[in-house]
Amino acid sequence: MVNIAVVGCGYWGPNLIRNFRSLSECRVKLVCDIDKDRLAHVRGLYPEVEATTEFDRVLEDAAIDAVAIVTPARFHFEMGKKSLQAGKHTFIEKPLACTGLECAQLIELAKNRNLTLMVGHTFVYSQPVRKIKEIIDCGSLGEIQYISARRLNLGLFQKDINVAWDLAPHDISIILHVMKEAPVSVNCQGKAHITPDIEDVTNITLNFANGGFATIHSSWLDPNKVREMTFVGTEKMLVYDDVEPMEKIRIYDKRVKTPPHYNTFAEFHYSYHYGDMHSPYLKQVEPLKVECEHFLDCIKTGATPHSSGIEGLKVVQILEAATKSLKNSGGRVKIS
Ligand SMILES: NC(=O)c1ccc[n+]([C@@H]2O[C@H](COP(=O)([O-])OP(=O)(O)OC[C@H]3O[C@@H](n4cnc5c(N)ncnc54)[C@H](O)[C@@H]3O)[C@@H](O)[C@H]2O)c1
Repeated sequence: MVNIAVVGCGYWGPNLIRNFRSLSECRVKLVCDIDKDRLAHVRGLYPEVEATTEFDRVLEDAAIDAVAIVTPARFHFEMGKKSLQAGKHTFIEKPLACTGLECAQLIELAKNRNLTLMVGHTFVYSQPVRKIKEIIDCGSLGEIQYISARRLNLGLFQKDINVAWDLAPHDISIILHVMKEAPVSVNCQGKAHITPDIEDVTNITLNFANGGFATIHSSWLDPNKVREMTFVGTEKMLVYDDVEPMEKIRIYDKRVKTPPHYNTFAEFHYSYHYGDMHSPYLKQVEPLKVECEHFLDCIKTGATPHSSGIEGLKVVQILEAATKSLKNSGGRVKIS
C-alpha cells in the first residue's frame, strides 16, 4: 500500500485525487493547498482524507511514501526538490520545471536517492496516442512527412506561464513519444493580446534532422475547443481528434505521388490516391487512471516511468528554445 499526498487542489488536483483513490494499491492520506476553500471542497468530497495548508507537514509525515505536485509551474522545482530531499517518490505535473537546469537537478536528486520521479505527460498514457504510436511503428503511414497539432480554446488564462508552456507540453510529449527521433531546432512566434508579456497565441515549429517538421499551434484565444493532430505520411494520413467522443482516430488511405521520371512538363502528372477511411476501435479508459497506476507500478518495481524526469527535461528544453526564438522574432534556435 502506497500512501500518497496530493499537493495543489485547484482545477487539476482533484482529478489526481479521484484517480489515486480509485486504485486499491494506494491510499490518498493527505491533501495540501494554501487555499482553505479548495481544501474544504476536497474534504467535502472525501471526508476521510487529512488536509493541511502546510507543505512542510507533507514532508514531515513519515507515513507518506509519495507526493503528487499539482501546483502552478513556478512552484514545481522547489516543491519537487523538497519532496525528493524528504525521501518521497515524486510525481510532478507538466511542465516538470521552468528550466532545463532545474529538471536536471530533480533527475539527479531522484537518481541519487533511488526514488521515482515522474512527470504528468498524461497523453502518453491515452489509448489514442498509444494506438498512433503502434500505427506509426508498424510503418503503415509510410515515412512521416509532417505533423500538425492544434490545441485551442477560450482560456484558461494562466498568470505565470504563456500558452506554449501551458498547452504545448501535451503536443510535444506526444510527438516525442511517437517519433523515433527528437527535433534538432525550434522556431516560435506568438503574441500577448490579453495579459501583457504573456503570449496567449503561439506557433511552434519543431525541425527534425531528416528534414521533417511539426507545427504546434496553441491558443487561449479561440472560439472553439480544438484538440487535433494530423500525421501526414507518404502512404496514409491520420487525424487524431481528442474532442471527438467515439472516432478519435481516423486513418485516411490518401496520398499524392509524383512520377519518378518525366522529360517534358506535359508528361508531368501528380497521382492522387483516394482510398477508404477507417477508425480503429479504442478502449474507453481514463488516461489519468493509467498514469496514476503506472506511477505506483514504478514505485513498486523501480522501473523507469514512460514519462520519466528525462522526458520532462526534453520537453522543457524544447520550450526553453521556443521561448528564445519567440524573443528573437521566430528565429531558429538549436536544441542542446
Ligand atoms: N496533465 C494535464 O492534462 C493537466 C491539465 C491541467 C493542469 N495540469 C497541470 O496541473 C498543475 C496545476 O494546474 P491547475 O490548472 O490545477 O492550477 P490551479 O491554479 O487551478 O490550482 C493550483 C492549486 O495549487 C495551490 N497552490 C499554490 N501554491 C501552493 C503551495 N505553495 N502549497 C500548496 N498549494 C499551493 C493553489 O492554491 C491552487 O488551488 C499545472 O502544472 C498544470 O500545468 C495538467
